[in-house]
Order: sequence, then C-alpha cells, then structure tokens
Amino acid sequence: MCRPEHFEVSYAINPWMDVSDPVDRNLALAQWDALRATFERHGHQVEVIEGLPGLPDMVFAANGGVVIGNRALSARFANPERAAEGPAYHEWLDDQGFDRVQPAREINEGEGDFAVAGDRILAGTGFRTSRDAHREAEEFFELPVVSLELIDPRFYHLDTALMVLGDTIAYYPAAFSGDSARVLAAMYPDAILVTEADAEVLGLNGVCDGYHVFLTDAATTLPGQLRERGYEPIGVNLSELLKSGGSVKCCTMEFHRDARESTTAVA
Ligand code: ARG
Repeated sequence: MCRPEHFEVSYAINPWMDVSDPVDRNLALAQWDALRATFERHGHQVEVIEGLPGLPDMVFAANGGVVIGNRALSARFANPERAAEGPAYHEWLDDQGFDRVQPAREINEGEGDFAVAGDRILAGTGFRTSRDAHREAEEFFELPVVSLELIDPRFYHLDTALMVLGDTIAYYPAAFSGDSARVLAAMYPDAILVTEADAEVLGLNGVCDGYHVFLTDAATTLPGQLRERGYEPIGVNLSELLKSGGSVKCCTMEFHRDARESTTAVA
C-alpha cells in the first residue's frame, strides 16, 4: 500500500475526477490509515511503498503491478500523468526478493486490470491495459488470461467492475461488452450480480481474503449478497479516495499465492 501523502485531484483521467472539487488530504490519510489498520486487525501483513511528490495517484498501489508467487510484473501506465509510477513500483518490487521482476512492455495498469482468479487471470481492456499486455502477462506468468472488454468509462479498470471471491466472482454485467458479459456468465454461472447502485459507489472494488471481504461501506445490497454466500463483509469509508475513482482494491496490491505451487509438505 502507499500512504496518500501526496494525494490530490490535479488532473482528470477518469470521469470520477473533478479538479474543481477539492480533496481533504488529511481525511484521505485518516481513511487510508483506517483501511490499513483494518487489514492488519484481520491478520494481514501490510508493506508500504513511499509515495512520491507529483504522483498523486500513487496511493492506488493496485496499479503498480501484478504479483503471483515468485513473479512480479510491474506496470506501464496509459496516461503520461502516471507514467513515472511504473519505474517507482518496479524498483520497489525489485527489492522484495521475488525470483523474477519484469517491467511491462505493453500498457499494463497492474491489478487495476488483472484479477487473479485461481489458476487463471481475468484481464480488462478498453480504457487502460491493452490486449497485447494480456498476452504478455500470459507468457510471463504462464497462466491463461481471459480478455474482457470494458465499455462504460465509469468502470475504466476491471477492478471497478469485478471482484474475485474464491472460486467465483461478483460483477456488474453492464460494464462489459455483450461478448465479454456472455463469457463471464458461462464461466461463472453462480456469480453474484451486483446492482448498478453498488457498482456506482465502487462496491466491487474490494479485497477478498477467502472469508472477509473488505469493501466500501457505501454499498447497500452487496454486503447481504456476500453474507448469503458465507463471506463476512467489512465496510470501510474511503470517500476521499473515491474522488479520484478509487476504493479499497485500488489502494491494495495483493501478493497472490501461485495456485500451482503445492501447499502439501512432503514428509
Ligand atoms: N485516479 C486513478 C486513475 O484514474 C485511480 C486509479 C484507481 N485504481 C484502480 N485500481 N482502479 O488512474
């Protein structure tokens, strides 16, 4: 995670961002501190990358790369405003002791558009990450990548429209092209379909650890849907970060286990 010490909305690269609507940085810091504390209280270890002046969106650590097992692919941003975040995240990832850390060759906004789902990766395109980046990730991680086309500018990253929940997903079908919505429906017949109201507060921009689901406290229907499936929703208020088009997941780069690595110890 990256503490929002330099957070502001000084440019607009998605429809959530309005440079005339001031952000309260102290409130953003307090909300972020509370999110971090919530993760830690639920047993998660949080590593922090230092934010850099002039990179107000660096708080959205999910965009910095994708980590699966011992491999990390660092991001290459679509917008010049965020370009310098790519090398910053790369350098940080390079210091974490992974076996392989590679900078993306193609436009790739990390976990913003790549959702690790067991032994496959779901990947968004249409606004930021390119289809060529999907192929690049497929080669690098040696995992199948399913390309999904986003069509609604409010849901410009996959992680604003879809959340992985163990073996299934929650998503907002109208954020996807007809073809991609059909792919998802066929692949996840038991998925949770989220209301437009919950999608509009970035309710899908959450993190699931297999039991707890950390998500915005502004979602109204999704918490009940999650409880019905045996998950425990944990609501967090990230209203200041929402002014930049981000919520819980955007603030969090997960280190995913490699589903292919056996967890069974050999005696
Ligand atoms: N203002 C940032 C942008 O438009 C928000 C990024 C949110 N991150 C995410 N993973 N969806 O790039």
